[in-house]
Amino acid sequence: MRETVHVPLGARAYDVVIGPGLLAQAGALISPMLPRPRVAIVTETRVAALHLDALRAGLAAAGIQSEALELPPGETTKSWAHLEQVSEWLLDQKIERRDVVIALGGGVIGDLVGFACAILRRGVRFVQVPTSLLAQVDSSVGGKTAINASQGKNLIGAFHQPSLVLADTDTLNTLTPRDFLSGYGEVMKYGLLGDADFFEWLEQNAPAMAGGDMGLRVRAVKRSVEMKAAIVTRDETEQGERALLNLGHTFCHALEAATGYGDRLLHGEGVAIGCGLAFEVSSRLGLCSQEDPSRVRAHLKAMGMKTDLSDIPGDLPGAEALLELMGQDKKVVAGTLNFVMARGIGDAFVTSDVSSQVVLDVLNDALSMR
Ligand code: GLY
Repeated sequence: MRETVHVPLGARAYDVVIGPGLLAQAGALISPMLPRPRVAIVTETRVAALHLDALRAGLAAAGIQSEALELPPGETTKSWAHLEQVSEWLLDQKIERRDVVIALGGGVIGDLVGFACAILRRGVRFVQVPTSLLAQVDSSVGGKTAINASQGKNLIGAFHQPSLVLADTDTLNTLTPRDFLSGYGEVMKYGLLGDADFFEWLEQNAPAMAGGDMGLRVRAVKRSVEMKAAIVTRDETEQGERALLNLGHTFCHALEAATGYGDRLLHGEGVAIGCGLAFEVSSRLGLCSQEDPSRVRAHLKAMGMKTDLSDIPGDLPGAEALLELMGQDKKVVAGTLNFVMARGIGDAFVTSDVSSQVVLDVLNDALSMR
């Protein structure tokens, strides 16, 4: 059941290996990259309790010695303080440029450790071992690394591609249903932005996939990674097309900011709701049919996911305030907000030509249903 997606970025090319049982095989997979049989692992305590022993045993099976640093879980770990801690620990471990650092965890660990590796000795190789669905289909692939600033999320970072990604789909079995479905928001996004057949396949198969079918999980992760790899290969540093990966994210970032980046709304839940809103705006602008936003929302409901603003617990600010929060988004270029809109399911494009009034109307209507 093992699949490999190659990311052909010339001198920075790498493989994304997807399938069950990869932690046990990590030593055999990583060993050809190593100048000496030794790695440093950075992880967080919750993931460590579930997967660190298995990874270290997999490395030891190939004669690879490992040291591990366990950080606290959660978004606040993407900070200057933890960047300093990781960097100094790696230096204490005498990690050299050709050595390999392993990031074991979800998006927080991947982003932080990737950034530490980007700046340590002006660039150290690292292997992503993503353990959440969101990290397997999105953040571990493509080389975006970052920490958060008090001014906003991911504002201090670098592009630094991993040398290998090992997406062990067995680790998905340890996610809560909510965390799995949150990651699924990013999976669905790929169908919506560029592959109508994949979206249709998800409509038919995603409930069984969420229920635990491993073959379906491997196929869904593989197709998502293939799509991300293709886009990143054409536009590694987001000069244009890579922004398609932000479908639903402008709405999502405003909703996350309004709800405090916490348990009220997980990132992938915001992406899912944001995709529905992006299709609604597209439909009102006459870009896609009226059936398309209904189809997106019907799929979210069938998956038991948050679909509408009314599914977000607690108060939300008004439409004007949400639009203002969208204006804080990183994707604002020369003061103009760029949106990812859709001509239909599987046919997204980036545009700055979106009337604020239509966005306000859609938000007002969505808020009035609360
Ligand atoms: N998560 C969006 C990107 O990697 O570009």
